Amino acid sequence: IKRVAVLTSGGDAPGMNAAIRAVVRSCAYHNLECVGIYRGLQGLIEGDFELLGPRSVKNIINRGGTFLKSARSQEFRTKEGRQKAYDHLKNAKIDAMVVIGGDGTFTGANIFINEFDFPIVGLPGTIDNDINGTDFTIGYDTALNTVVEAIDKIRDTANSHNRLFLVEVMGRDAGDIALNAGIGAGAEEILIPEENMGKDRLISSLKRSKKSGKSSSIVVVAEGDQIGKNILGLADYIRKHLDEYEVKVTVLGHIQRGGSPSCYDRVLASRLGVGAIDALLDGQQGVMIGISHNKIVRVPFEEAIKGENKIDQDLIRVADITSV
Ligand code: F6P
Repeated sequence: IKRVAVLTSGGDAPGMNAAIRAVVRSCAYHNLECVGIYRGLQGLIEGDFELLGPRSVKNIINRGGTFLKSARSQEFRTKEGRQKAYDHLKNAKIDAMVVIGGDGTFTGANIFINEFDFPIVGLPGTIDNDINGTDFTIGYDTALNTVVEAIDKIRDTANSHNRLFLVEVMGRDAGDIALNAGIGAGAEEILIPEENMGKDRLISSLKRSKKSGKSSSIVVVAEGDQIGKNILGLADYIRKHLDEYEVKVTVLGHIQRGGSPSCYDRVLASRLGVGAIDALLDGQQGVMIGISHNKIVRVPFEEAIKGENKIDQDLIRVADITSV
């Protein structure tokens, strides 16, 4: 291979810039040319390309977002869209591609590889940590720190007013952010899609904790949780069944997606970016570069997008015990 393209696709995540930087510089190190594709798979369909050298990615390791920009492309789901994408790659003499994104990106990339036998490797870039075969995704650690910092602030005011706060966090179908940030921020209860707690158990648990002497409470709710999906409805239900607290709701939303990446995310992104070019040079395609037990691993896209529940039951136990 002589020329490699790189793009970021789907929801952005802190550390994507560090990953692009590692890919571009790894290309330079191995004397390969690198082409940046703007706006993800949509930019690929439109041929929105730019040649990138090692200095094109200076001063970005510390920046959130993605300088290549990102998009969720509907057109790439169509055969015609993918054909246009392939034609642009061929015209630009690109021999291989690194895609940075989540399960939607890998699903699209996998279809593309099967159709055109074009070498693609992926890097897991999403705050949700919902990718199979990697312990962590790029952006997850930063998002956790953002959530914990926000909840620490909420705790101050919750405590001053003896209030109960429902705090909604991101994670479309995954409870990783809620569970880990919930433990880290000392939440009373954590509602995640992988474990349906049910409203009644929540109410009795909150009553119990009030009786045990707690004056305020924080409940972290994953946006994908069954009863947490309608967080305002849940707040009303709690108000009806629990007199002990005044109930407030905070939805953290997209602040979780921004900000300067943590050192962990920068190092992870750098390792994975280097690993992507290593994999392409080894003739690999259709694999995601992930991290498992602190070692770089290559995971077939089919495995990565399986959507298996990887919530660690031990963490749920820790959350239960430490909130007594
Ligand atoms: O997948 C990342 C994520 O931030 C999810 O946690 C969230 O449900 C979704 O993206 C939001 O997507 P958008 O930014 O397109 O509204």
